[in-house]
Amino acid sequence: MKLNNPFVTTGYVSPDYFCDRENESGQILEAIHSHRNLALISMRRMGKTGLLKHVGFLLNIQHENKALIYIDLMPTQSASDLLSTLGTALLHARHKEKNILEKIVAALSSLRPGFTYDSLTGQPSLVFNVATENDFNLGLRQLLALFITMRKELTIVLDEFQQVLEYPESRIENLLRPIVQENPQITFIFSGSDKHMMETMFSNPTRPFFQSVELMYLGPIVTENYLEFIKNHFNAAGFDISDTTILQLLEWCRYHTYYVQHFCNRLFAKSFLKINEENTNQLCLEILASYEPLYLTYRKLLTTHQFALIQAIAVENGVSKPLSGNFIKKHDLKSPSSVKTSLVALTGKEMLIRSNNTWQVYDVFFARWLEHTWKRLNL
Ligand SMILES: Nc1ncnc2c1ncn2[C@@H]1O[C@H](COP(=O)(O)OP(=O)(O)O)[C@@H](O)[C@H]1O
Ligand SMILES: [Mg+2]
Repeated sequence: MKLNNPFVTTGYVSPDYFCDRENESGQILEAIHSHRNLALISMRRMGKTGLLKHVGFLLNIQHENKALIYIDLMPTQSASDLLSTLGTALLHARHKEKNILEKIVAALSSLRPGFTYDSLTGQPSLVFNVATENDFNLGLRQLLALFITMRKELTIVLDEFQQVLEYPESRIENLLRPIVQENPQITFIFSGSDKHMMETMFSNPTRPFFQSVELMYLGPIVTENYLEFIKNHFNAAGFDISDTTILQLLEWCRYHTYYVQHFCNRLFAKSFLKINEENTNQLCLEILASYEPLYLTYRKLLTTHQFALIQAIAVENGVSKPLSGNFIKKHDLKSPSSVKTSLVALTGKEMLIRSNNTWQVYDVFFARWLEHTWKRLNL
């Protein structure tokens, strides 16, 4: 498929529009070939889902007998939802099995399977009703057994896996662990954005999944490779852009994949034949203006102190010692204890994130807007 704009901002299209991640794809493929389960962790919007879909694409062209099934747990809210999502994925997966629907319905008849149609796509989905732990155990075992009839080797990706912790069923991890172990011919990849929750699930000795998977952290795309990718796509369309301009935009987007893609998508849409710094600066302002109504509501939702703290962190472009006297004094943040309280609140709202020992505003464009509004008033 050829796209009018090569900078994709939702989903995965094809390797042509996917930048680098060669090492990471290789690492995941190797784990799959060696039947090792993986947990993939990164900040939101860094590229986990894209990477996993890319791996699925590569696996599909390299191996006839291997398949990757992608399950997004983000919208699920219960064990019933998890089974329904898996059942629906099985229904839509490519397999030799005829009458797959009849087989699923027969195998899971005790869970009173029903049917709904997605109001947007019109695609049919399956719905199961799980009332007890036993229902869940039985349903999951039956579904996996049907999955195994599809291909010799199967990888199941459970994306945004930390979502299972939000289910009302408190023992879901205990139920999943033995079933994962019973199915060595299925490689499981658990992917998640909540570093703390994911690490607790997989590295805490008291938890069922303790040391059962290999942890893999996904960082930003290697700068030189991203630069090449961006330059090549602009040049292929006949647009000229210098390395310096690209490096500046990467820096402004904090090398965070989604923000870089979004920026480049908008820049490409402008069809400038020769892109200069003035064009990119103008676009920065345009982006901030387009998000301003949203950011003003964020401000309303925060206390005065929380807003002052998040703005201070944005102005400093990340802070490693937010409790230090210098930082507190420079930004009028009262006391270390009030900063501590606001840090906890803002982290809980996922507005701040601590990464590599530095506190950052999670949403890059919000950070740039905070910085911009501060400078407008203070410089
Ligand atoms: N390697 C890549 N090259 C180009 N675009 C990418 C790449 N990885 C991710 N993206 C894009 O960046 C955005 C965020 O990536 P996504 O995979 O959804 O992040 P996550 O799952 O970590 O939240 C998506 O729009 C996706 O299309
Ligand atoms: Mg994702």
